[in-house]
Amino acid sequence: MQMMMEYPQYRMLEGSETLYAIEGPRHAIEFQPLGSNQWMMHAHFASDYPRFVWMQELLLKAAQARAVSKEEFVDLVNAREVHEPLACLGRFNASEAHEALRFETNVELQALTTFGVSSISRHHVLVGSDEDIREALKAAKQNDWEVLIVGGGSNVLMHSDWEGLTLQQGIKGIQVLSDDGNRVEVLVGAGESWHDWVLHAVEQGWNGIENLALIPGSVGASPMQNIGAYGVEVKDCFLWLEAVHQQTGELRRFDHNACEFGYRESIFKQREKDEWVIVRVAFVLERNAPLRMEYGAIQSELKHLQHHEIAHKNVMEAVMRIRRSKLPDPALMGNAGSFFKNPILDERAFEAVLSNHPEVVHYTLEDGTFKLAAGWLIEQAGWKGQRRGNCGVHERQALVLVNYGGASGQEIWQLALDIIEDVKVKFGVELQPEVNQIRTS
Ligand code: FAD
Ligand code: EPU
Repeated sequence: MQMMMEYPQYRMLEGSETLYAIEGPRHAIEFQPLGSNQWMMHAHFASDYPRFVWMQELLLKAAQARAVSKEEFVDLVNAREVHEPLACLGRFNASEAHEALRFETNVELQALTTFGVSSISRHHVLVGSDEDIREALKAAKQNDWEVLIVGGGSNVLMHSDWEGLTLQQGIKGIQVLSDDGNRVEVLVGAGESWHDWVLHAVEQGWNGIENLALIPGSVGASPMQNIGAYGVEVKDCFLWLEAVHQQTGELRRFDHNACEFGYRESIFKQREKDEWVIVRVAFVLERNAPLRMEYGAIQSELKHLQHHEIAHKNVMEAVMRIRRSKLPDPALMGNAGSFFKNPILDERAFEAVLSNHPEVVHYTLEDGTFKLAAGWLIEQAGWKGQRRGNCGVHERQALVLVNYGGASGQEIWQLALDIIEDVKVKFGVELQPEVNQIRTS
C-alpha cells in the first residue's frame, strides 16, 4: 500500500552524513559526502521492486534514517560544495508521468507557441530528464524523425506543419551550487519558466537578472540568442550550461567562452545549430549587484524614488511596467516579440545611411560599429500599425509583427519579407529576422 505522504521529504542516514531529498515515492537525490567539503549527488529512481521497498523504508525511517527539516537540509547541503551536481538534477521534481515517455501524434502547436499560428506536429513528447531526452532522440533516429526542440515557443514562427518530432523541454529544478553571502551560483533546469526564475531570484535577493523580467519562454532557450533587455543580457549573469548532443547523447558543459555570445547570438544559433539540447543553465548572481538604470525609461518610472531608496525589485517592477505598456501580451495577441534584430553597421555603411537620414535613431557600440533602431526604420517606412489580412505590424512597437487571429506562418513571413524589401529600398539596410523560422527540411 502506498503511503500518503507530502513531498519532498528529507532524511539523513544515522551514523553517516549522507542526505536524501526524496521527491516522490520513486524519486530521491542522494547527497554523499566527498572528502571534507564536497557532495557527490546521485539520482535514485526506484523503478524495480527492491529499490521501491528500500525507498519506502527510507521514508519510514526503518533504514535507520532520521527525518530532517527543509531548513536543516539546506544548511547541511550549503555547508559543502557540490561536485558534479549534474547527472541527477534532471529528476528534480520529476513526476511519475516521466517514468515512461508518452509520444503523442498530430499535436497542434498553436497553443504551445506565442505567435499562435496553426501547425501540426506529427510526433510530440514532453521530456523531464536527460534520460528522457536520450530516449526521445533514439526514437527519432530509429524513425527518421527530424527533431525540433520547443521551450515556451516564444521565438519561433512555424511555416508549416512539423513532419518530425517536437521535443518539449520539461526539465525542472532550481538548485544553489554555492553561496558566499554575496555571490550565489544557481543551477536551473531548462524547462523552468524564465520569468518565474527571475521572480524567484529577485525574491531571494539574488540580483543582476532583474532587468530581464517578463521575457517569455524557458530558461533553456535563454542562452540560445543571449536574451537581452534594458541594458542587460543573459551573458552578464551566465556561468555555464549543460547540453545533450542530439546525435551521440553526450552530455557536455559549455562555459561562457564556448557559447560565443553576441547580440541575439550564440554558438547554438550558428556553428552548433540544431546540434544540442540545453538541459540546465548555471547563473551567477550577487546580492550586492549594481543597479542597472541606464535606460531613460527606467529612470522615468522610478523618478518618484530617491536613489538610496531604489532596490533591485523596484527596477524589476519598472521594467515590467514599461514592457506591459509597449509590447503586446501573447495571451491576447499572437506575437514573438521583436521580429527583426536591430541592424549593426560598420562606419562606412552607417555614414551612408546617416547622410540621407540624419535623424536615424542609432547607438554607437564599444567596438566602433553602430546599431540602428529597426523599429524606427520600419515606422519611417510607413509600416507601423499596418494590418494585412489577419496579421500586421503592432501599433505601439513597429519591430513586433502580430497575429490578430487565424494568420498562417506563410502569411506572416510574406509580410516580413515585404518589410525587409521596403526598408532595403528606402534605407539601404537589410533587416535580419530575430525570430527562428521553422520549416521541416
Ligand atoms: P522557443 O521559442 O521555444 O525556442 C527558440 C529557439 O530555441 C528554437 O530554435 C528552439 O528549437 C530552440 N530551443 C529552445 N529551447 C531549447 C533547448 N533547451 N535546447 C536547445 N534549443 C532550444 N527576447 C529577448 O531577447 N529580449 C526581449 O526583451 C524579448 N521580449 C519578448 C517579448 C515578447 C512579448 C515575446 C513573445 C518574445 C520576446 N523575446 C525577447 C523573445 C523570446 O521570449 C526569447 O527568445 C526566449 O528566450 C525564447 O524562449 P522559448 O523557450 O520560448 O524558446
Ligand atoms: N522606435 C521607433 N518606433 C517604434 C519602435 C522603436 O521609432 O515603433 C525607436 C525609438 O526611437 C525607440 C528606439 O527605437 O527609442 C528603441 O525602441 P525600444 O526601446 O522599444 O527597443 P527596441 O530596440 O525596439 C530592443 C529589443 C527588445 C528589448 C528592448 C528593450 C531587439 C531586436 N529588441 O527593442 O527585445 O525588449 O530593446 O531593451 O534588440 C526581443 O528581442 O524580442 C525584444 C522585445
